[in-house]
Amino acid sequence: MTETRSLQDGSDGVARLPLGTRIFHWTTVALLALMFGLILAAEQAGPGDLGATLVDLHRSVGLTLFLVVLARLAWRLAHPLPPLRRPAWERLLAGGVQAALYVCVLAMPALGWAASETAGDTIRLYGIVSLPSVLPMDEDLSDRLFQLHGSVAIALLCLIGLHAAGALRHRFVLRDGVFERMWLGGERSRKVNQSRR
Ligand code: HEM
Ligand code: HEM
Repeated sequence: MTETRSLQDGSDGVARLPLGTRIFHWTTVALLALMFGLILAAEQAGPGDLGATLVDLHRSVGLTLFLVVLARLAWRLAHPLPPLRRPAWERLLAGGVQAALYVCVLAMPALGWAASETAGDTIRLYGIVSLPSVLPMDEDLSDRLFQLHGSVAIALLCLIGLHAAGALRHRFVLRDGVFERMWLGGERSRKVNQSRR
């Protein structure tokens, strides 16, 4: 009950985050999962039409994700997170990991795009539009950019692990409503509770 009430009135700083913040967050998570799934499937499929189509889709969804994250950043700047009453080191760690997540999620598509361009590959968005080629072909540079694309992917996975572990600690150990303020469900029961107050 105490938790439900605090989620409603926000008096302890854990009111629901704006719907836009939550939609952007979970859309990014879903698109990232799709990106890893597509590249794993492409690697399983190997060379051939299916593999090439999956890599094309990986490129298209990745560039879409880039635009989504830019829009998300603009939204986030206009809607800062209400501060939490947590120790300074925790807020610093959480904020640092969130900032690093933004950097990696923007760097990944940029590196993938530049690596594909310098490899001389044509990038076809969803099989419909071919993007104009703007970088000169350079195989050595392309190899290095692909290596970096792979390394940043590993760093991104580590950051996601750290971030998700922190979120789950709020959900199951601290039980302070921080996980719930980012969650998408529960609007209906919240409204019912509010109308009873
Ligand atoms: C957040 C976005 C992205 C994520 C998480 C991601 C993730 C990955 C991962 C994990 C790999 C495998 C790396 C390895 O095997 O070492 C990969 C490979 C690749 N990525 Fe991405 N990527 C993203 C965006 C992009 C974009 C936007 C493009 C191109 C426009 C792209 C093009 C490629 C290509 C061409 C490969 C190599 C495929 C092959 O083995 O032939 N990626 N990506
Ligand atoms: C996979 C499971 C995930 C869970 C359970 C989770 C959970 C959460 C929660 C509970 C918050 C709210 C923190 C607060 O209110 O202070 C949050 C914020 C945030 N999460 Fe996640 N998250 C996950 C994945 C991701 C991924 C993959 C990204 C990658 C971009 C991400 C990026 C962020 C960012 C940047 C914030 C700060 C708020 C914002 O800028 O929108 N999260 N996350």
